Amino acid sequence: MKPTIAPYPHGRFRRARQSEAIRGLVRENTLTVDDLIWPVFVRDGEGIEEPVPSMPGVVRRSVDLIAKAATEAQAMGIPAICLFPYTDPSLKTQDCAEAWNPDNLSNRAIRAIKQAAPEIAVMTDVALDPYNINGHDGYVVDGKIVNDETVEALVKMTLAQAEAGADIIGPSDMMDGRIGAMRQALEAAGHHDVMILSYAAKYASAFYGPFRDAVGASGALTGDKKTYQMDPANSNEALRLIQRDLTEGADMVMIKPGMPYLDICRKVKDTFGAPTYAYQVSGEYAMIQAAAQNGWIDGEKVMVESLLAFKRAGCDGILTYFAPQVARLLQG
Ligand code: PBG
Repeated sequence: MKPTIAPYPHGRFRRARQSEAIRGLVRENTLTVDDLIWPVFVRDGEGIEEPVPSMPGVVRRSVDLIAKAATEAQAMGIPAICLFPYTDPSLKTQDCAEAWNPDNLSNRAIRAIKQAAPEIAVMTDVALDPYNINGHDGYVVDGKIVNDETVEALVKMTLAQAEAGADIIGPSDMMDGRIGAMRQALEAAGHHDVMILSYAAKYASAFYGPFRDAVGASGALTGDKKTYQMDPANSNEALRLIQRDLTEGADMVMIKPGMPYLDICRKVKDTFGAPTYAYQVSGEYAMIQAAAQNGWIDGEKVMVESLLAFKRAGCDGILTYFAPQVARLLQG
């Protein structure tokens, strides 16, 4: 590499750090409200906002209040909101039929948001875990997660979400072949503009703990998700999965969790140049909030620093529970 600065004392890196004005001038990455996707939890009822204990500051909202929250997010310029249903245990079954019920919680929330805040993009989650009696993302047959039968169910779920008005489908299930099957079904049904943001490199992570509380899946889950989610030790595999999903018709790809996997984000962006997103997951959020509540860190500063790190790592956007908080801060 050629020297790009004269040797000391003619070259001094500190010149470029001397004031906010100069630092702004040389800054390489910026966090803006355009980078944010806001994951929210929806529950039954009306006028209900109930805290999620393991995620301080996060609530489950009934459909009417989800629509209100989406309206507020739209007003702040947040481009997308991502829905996760807290499904009543009585609706969880072996065949997971609630997943493609046109009137399930998630689909009712999509329609309510589309009516109240037509400009914000609505993203959904595709996986069977909210509807499955054993908490898995796929069907369990004789103790094994079966791939192809699960993909058929996921396609039905996708079509119901697209029918309800979803703009971005987010398959988080990690089955093989699901992106191609979903894309084909969406095209056949005339949903040419519905996008797929694939959870392409999703790791079997302990950072999802608080989320499973939030959607009521913790108690339900038997065993772990290691036969379908990735081994945290792997990185070449992530590139192969991303390539596969892009080839099958994904418009955008995601790495999940976020902060411990910034090396993967960078590799993915450099290798494919595709729209790349990271999910700063529930456990990452909970750690920051817990330390901030104890006065051990400055929560606001850590929030901004953690999100900026995703931009530096090459991400085009971040799914983060901090979205409204950081949007407010960026608005000044
Ligand atoms: C389920 C799903 C999970 C998350 C998003 N979709 C949990 C899991 O795979 O067990 C995690 C999100 C978070 O932790 O914030 N398919």
